[in-house]
Amino acid sequence: MNKTGIFYGPEKGSVAKVANMIADELGKDTTDIIPIKNCNPTAFKDYHKLIFGISTLGRTNWDSEHKDDDWDQFFTQLKNVNWDSKQVAIYGLGDQINYPDHFVDAIGWLYERLKALNVDIVGAVDDQGYHYNESEALIKGQFMGLPLDEDNESEKSPSRIEQWTSQLKKDGF
Ligand SMILES: Cc1cc2nc3c(=O)[nH]c(=O)nc-3n(C[C@H](O)[C@H](O)[C@H](O)COP(=O)(O)O)c2cc1C
Repeated sequence: MNKTGIFYGPEKGSVAKVANMIADELGKDTTDIIPIKNCNPTAFKDYHKLIFGISTLGRTNWDSEHKDDDWDQFFTQLKNVNWDSKQVAIYGLGDQINYPDHFVDAIGWLYERLKALNVDIVGAVDDQGYHYNESEALIKGQFMGLPLDEDNESEKSPSRIEQWTSQLKKDGF
C-alpha cells in the first residue's frame, strides 16, 4: 500500500480539523486519517509515509504520569515500531498569543523522541511569519514540523498547509 497515514490526536479539535485539510491537499484517495488514541505499534505497519498531528496542551501532561492525553499512551510504544523505510512528518497546533514562550513545543517533544529512535523525519518549516518568543520545536531557525495557530490566525492555515504538503509531495507523500 502506498497510502499516507495521518495519525492525529486529540480527536475533536483543531488537530482533527487540520488532519482533514492535509488529506484534502494530498488527496483523499491516497491518505488514511486515523486517531492515535488506542492505536498500537502495528497500526503503522502498512504505511511508509506517516504524518503525526499533535497539539501543545501544557507541559504538565508530558512530565507527569498523566495518561489523559491521546498521544501520552503511545509514547512508550514508539520504540516497538519497526521504523525501517518509514518517513515521518509532524504538524502541531499551538497558540502564539497566549503561549508565546512555549509555542508548539509538542512538535519538538515528539521530534526528539522519534529522532532518538533514528526515525527519518521530514517537513521542517522556516520560522518566518510566526510571532512567538520561544519554542522547543525549533532547531537553527526551523520548526521540526508545521506549526499552525487556529486560535489566532486560522486564515493563514490553508496556505501554510498547501505549501507544506507540496514540500511533502516531493518526498513521495
Ligand atoms: C490548557 C492549555 C494549554 C495550552 N498550552 C499551550 C502551549 O504551551 N503552547 C502552545 O503553543 N499552545 C498551547 N495551547 C493552545 C492549544 O495548543 C491550541 O488551542 C490548539 O489549537 C488545541 O488543539 P486541539 O483542540 O486539537 O487540541 C494550550 C491550550 C490549552 C487549553
